[in-house]
Formats: sequence, C-alpha cells, structure tokens
Amino acid sequence: MSHVTIHPSILSADFAALGQALESIGTADAVHVDVMDQHFVPNLTLGLPVVSRLAEVSSLPLDVHLMIEDPDRWAPQYAEAGAASVTFHAEAAGAPIRLAREIRAAGAKAAMALKPTTPLDVALPVLDELDMLLIMSVEPGFGGQPFLESSLPKIRAAVEAIGSRGIVVQVDGGVSPETVERIAEAGASCFVAGSAVFGAKDPSAAVEKIRGLAAR
Ligand code: DX5
Ligand code: ZN
Repeated sequence: MSHVTIHPSILSADFAALGQALESIGTADAVHVDVMDQHFVPNLTLGLPVVSRLAEVSSLPLDVHLMIEDPDRWAPQYAEAGAASVTFHAEAAGAPIRLAREIRAAGAKAAMALKPTTPLDVALPVLDELDMLLIMSVEPGFGGQPFLESSLPKIRAAVEAIGSRGIVVQVDGGVSPETVERIAEAGASCFVAGSAVFGAKDPSAAVEKIRGLAAR
C-alpha cells in the first residue's frame, strides 16, 4: 500500500475565516483549493489573489484544483503564486503535455483531472508528464455530493496503467469515513475531503479518522 495522504478541501470551510480553516487542519498533508470560474463548472469560488495570499500564510502545501476554462493560459501562474501542485482538467486543456511541462518548469507538481464521464484513455498519452492523476468521483462544481461508485473501476484501471511510474492517484468527491476504505482498496493513495472534514466538529480529528480507515 502506498503512502496515504489527506487533502481537506476548503470549499467546505467558512470563506470568511480561511485562516482559521487552515489552522484547524494541522493533521492534514496539504490543503486542497478549488478554483472555479462559473464557465467550466456552474460555481464561482476564488482565484489568483486569494491563492497567492493562502500560499503566504499556509504552513501546509497548497494543492490547487483548477476547474476553469483555458487552463493553458492560467495554470502556470498558480504555480508561480506558490502552489505546491496545480491540477488542470483534461476536458479544458488545449495542449496538456505542454501545460504539464510549464507547470513543472514554474516549480509545482503537475496534475491532470478527469471528470466522471471522461475515459481514462484520455490520460494515457499524458501520464509521463504528470506527478498526480485526479479521478473525480462527483461531477465537479460543488461539495457535499454523494460518491459515484462508477469511479471505483476507473481508479483500479488508473493504478494499473500507472504501474511503477510513481504517479499519485488522487480521488476527489464524496470521500468520507463511509466511502474511503473502498476507494483505498481500489488503489488510490491521495484523498480530498471537503464536507467530511469541515462539516465535522473537530476537522483535524476527522482527517485522522479518514487517514486511519484509508491506511488499513
Ligand atoms: C468538487 C470539488 C471538491 C469538493 C469535494 O467539485 O472539486 O474538491 O470540495 O467536496 P466533498 O468532499 O464534500 O465531496
Ligand atoms: Zn477539488
């Protein structure tokens, strides 16, 4: 079993108290920041100025998930702003191989995300350029949606396709104490959880609970 990492999504935190949200997840490995532009997804969250500021104050690495159109234009700037990893969507990228290289050249890890209905095949020609592959297990746009069971065979296939290349398989959407064991069993090692962490009374304890179940 590969090393388990837990990335709480601040989409489910109090946007008026993001600093406190960061402090409340000290047990996490990184903080997942969902950037939405109201075009690629029907929701609008935050952008470069907020990510830059979070990068300055956060003691946790920033895992930036771009749900935006034209990531070819914007993604490298998130790397320059201090993100530890930048994830763009395969469905939105014009030149994913070039984009992954630019993200790496700007100093961040490069990751590509697949929506639930995007076949894994789309990722195969890009794998060698990636540090992480994100398998979405809900339609991107909102927190608190139920986990899509159809993502489990896709996670298994992704792990198999990656083989020994050392690319992290991240899963985002509906990750909770109820679902995480099955997701880990399918082979994922990086877990994004929004509502299950920030909806809990003690977010740090919720992170540890999810980690414990994933690592069994
Ligand atoms: C959804 C976002 C997720 C979201 C997950 O489009 O990409 O990161 O915050 O929320 P939960 O864990 O509540 O499904
Ligand atoms: Zn996300």
